[in-house]
Amino acid sequence: MTDADEVESVFPGVYKLADPKNPTKKLLATRNLTPGKVFYGERTVRIKINNENVEFRFWDPFRSKLSASILNGLVFFPFAEGGSCLYLGASTGTTVSHVSDILGSTGKLFAVEMAPRVARELLEQVVKHRVNVVPIIADARHPERYPSIYGTFPVIYCDIAQPDQTDIAIANCERYFPDKKGSLFLVVKASSIDALEDMNKVVSEQVRKLERSSFEIVQKIDLEPFDKKHAMIVARRT
Ligand SMILES: C[S@@+](CC[C@H](N)C(=O)[O-])C[C@H]1O[C@@H](n2cnc3c(N)ncnc32)[C@H](O)[C@@H]1O
Repeated sequence: MTDADEVESVFPGVYKLADPKNPTKKLLATRNLTPGKVFYGERTVRIKINNENVEFRFWDPFRSKLSASILNGLVFFPFAEGGSCLYLGASTGTTVSHVSDILGSTGKLFAVEMAPRVARELLEQVVKHRVNVVPIIADARHPERYPSIYGTFPVIYCDIAQPDQTDIAIANCERYFPDKKGSLFLVVKASSIDALEDMNKVVSEQVRKLERSSFEIVQKIDLEPFDKKHAMIVARRT
């Protein structure tokens, strides 16, 4: 059992904890909303806090670009307990599960995934166990067709690895930001947009596209060494 004093808060709902295998090393973790249940083979640790045994799940930066972004210096983190998020490109739910931990049981995450096989895994492995994740099996290119969605989202996360990913992200923000204002986390996979072009050039083009659509760029983060030729663009419309 690790000591509560060793829990370092990084952002609301995100912590740094000593690695039980190598106590000099600190790893990112979120508080498990579903104690006893893990989602992608991640390790857990239990810590006694105010007489309660709290389970944390380590958040692997090699498996999640949001975790990689935090370790590479992310400064803005609008995810918090009770909040809501529209997540495009949920895949089997690795990052979704950690964002779900952060939003907590009073928050809501709407997870959009288009590929049926992947979506089946998302439903079986994550949605079934988490009260705050609502699946949307749909193509993010058509936000107007999402079934079972209600309201607007102050935060949109987009990780879909498509050539037109920035246009797709903007279309979703246009439709689902409250009053067209909010925060966008856009994962840029440079090779999906232009396999031959230099990554910095591809990222700069996406930045210009966002600026033309009235976004202010908060931060650009290179995700090396966790993901090669990937960047996170954090942008805001105010
Ligand atoms: C790189 S993976 C996402 C990984 C995930 N965000 C994570 O961190 O755990 C990209 C996912 O986007 C999905 N995708 C690609 N194009 C899409 C679209 N137009 N609409 C919805 N999902 C899409 C793919 O099926 C794939 O599962």
